[in-house]
Amino acid sequence: DWTPDNIIDMRVEQLKEQIGDKQVLLGLSGGVDSSVVAALLHKAIGDQLTCVFVDNGLLRLHEGDQVMQVFAENMGVKVVRVDAEDRFLSALAGESEPEAKRKIIGKTFIDVFADAARDISQGSDGKPVEFLAQGTIYPDVIESAKSHQGKAHVIKSHHNVGGLPDDLQFELVEPLRDLFKDEVRKLGIALGLPHKMIYRHPFPGPGLGVRILGEVKKEYADILRQADAIFMQELERSGWYEKTAQAFAVFTPVKSVGVVGDGRRYAWVIALRAVETIDFMTARFAHLPYELIETVSNRIMNEIKDVSRVTYDVSSKPPATIEWE
Ligand code: XMP
Repeated sequence: DWTPDNIIDMRVEQLKEQIGDKQVLLGLSGGVDSSVVAALLHKAIGDQLTCVFVDNGLLRLHEGDQVMQVFAENMGVKVVRVDAEDRFLSALAGESEPEAKRKIIGKTFIDVFADAARDISQGSDGKPVEFLAQGTIYPDVIESAKSHQGKAHVIKSHHNVGGLPDDLQFELVEPLRDLFKDEVRKLGIALGLPHKMIYRHPFPGPGLGVRILGEVKKEYADILRQADAIFMQELERSGWYEKTAQAFAVFTPVKSVGVVGDGRRYAWVIALRAVETIDFMTARFAHLPYELIETVSNRIMNEIKDVSRVTYDVSSKPPATIEWE
């Protein structure tokens, strides 16, 4: 019968059998799905697993440190952190079209993984990485079949994984392929992952890249990270984080006039987005209390000198999407 412990035992046995004594690479994002795969694989094959955590410069405040803390420091999982900020930002420079940005980010992820796989193979007595693990869950399988805009960094085709160079051939390991999100969460709890990680809002593969409208610049990402962190802090403090399915700040490349003391300030506009949804296919903008929006807005304008104005997004999906790009 379906208990998390039964499923874990079964999957661990299957993984041991599939992988044998080979090396496995997993792209770890810190999201629920890849985290659960990491914990399962660690249980099954220990040090034959190497996770690659890519800091693409489009992560939220302290996100990389938190992922490293949970996996490398607390769980003893082998995690390589790749600092690829310059690589992503220079690949994105000058591009402002949303689909083109997504493609650039997806391709850069693949290039970074391919380099990491070569390094790992060289580092493990020449034993090549033969398996690539992914946190694909059942809804992803359906969505990619419908070719939804989808997870930009998820590599879909089997064997000779699409997009990777020809000399890198992997067999895919996808132990969550037939599970729904709530089932994955139950496995995560049973595997001892922190509650905070299990109940995290989803974060898109392209990260802040689709929340900085138009051209991505480091200066914009830094401002957005600060604004987003303030919004998250206040959502958590007020108990609203768990009442919304997803919430985030958006950097708009729009300047607006404000007043500080005796002077004028001509600075950026930040938008706040929070939604309620079950399936993410449709969504309603969250009816956050005005007092909460007020606190967040005041903090953002007072604490970030480059922001002169804050707006709240009151669009539902459809016709708006959850992300702005
Ligand atoms: P939209 O904006 O399409 O988003 O209403 C629906 C859900 O999907 C997430 N999303 C993505 N996730 N790669 C991802 O991994 C992507 O390219 C991507 N685009 C959107 C979005 O955050 C929301 O949860």
